[in-house]
Amino acid sequence: MRIDIVSIFPPMFAGAFDHSIVKRARERGIVRIDVHDLRAHTTDRHRSVDDEPYGGGPGMVMTPEPWFRAVESLREEGERGRAILMTPQGRRLDQRIVRELAAEERLILLCGRYEGVDERVREHLVDDEISIGDYVLSGGEPAAVVLVDAVVRLQAGALGSAQSTVEESFSDGLLEYPQYTRPAEFRGWSVPDILLSGHHAEIVRWRRRQQIERTRLRRPDLLPDGDADTEVLDAN
Ligand code: ADE
Repeated sequence: MRIDIVSIFPPMFAGAFDHSIVKRARERGIVRIDVHDLRAHTTDRHRSVDDEPYGGGPGMVMTPEPWFRAVESLREEGERGRAILMTPQGRRLDQRIVRELAAEERLILLCGRYEGVDERVREHLVDDEISIGDYVLSGGEPAAVVLVDAVVRLQAGALGSAQSTVEESFSDGLLEYPQYTRPAEFRGWSVPDILLSGHHAEIVRWRRRQQIERTRLRRPDLLPDGDADTEVLDAN
């Protein structure tokens, strides 16, 4: 997979992809990530990327030309890719959308500044708009880091054999069960007996119940019709 990021602040990505799973995926050639400076695609002396809004009002609006030039020049080399504007107005990112994006050959992420991007970029350049949640960031850069991390770890071979995307939160629509490791007693707090019992089938059942109960308490919106006691959920 290939990911291109376009931003007026490339240094914001320094180190962001140089650790852990994303680093290893890059080293293994599973993903190639390149960050591009939007200003490299300006044509004026001041390398300007914004201007006053037509109709008046506060703030500046990012001009369309550099965005079109940047994306079109990227598309000249290789796959067309899916161009995505990072914006709080976009589709809200969840694990289903992450899986959808992870299946793309190439993503081109456009990091706008929050104040605004000329509407013609939305209408005629990008294929998609993504928000990472209902809050406002100063720009799309942190959102792009979040999206890249979530997408890269789903690439085949990105996770070590000890890690798995099968049992983690959201993969089956439920939160994770509680995890414990040594010591069996820590500051007087004990690990649940069932986990030390060696009864594998009962442990599986206990974990499933914990998942359902935890989801019901913390994220009832994830449960079908707010009801966890369905055949599907209790299947294990
Ligand atoms: N840019 C500013 N806020 C954002 C958000 N919540 N998600 C994605 N991009 C953004």
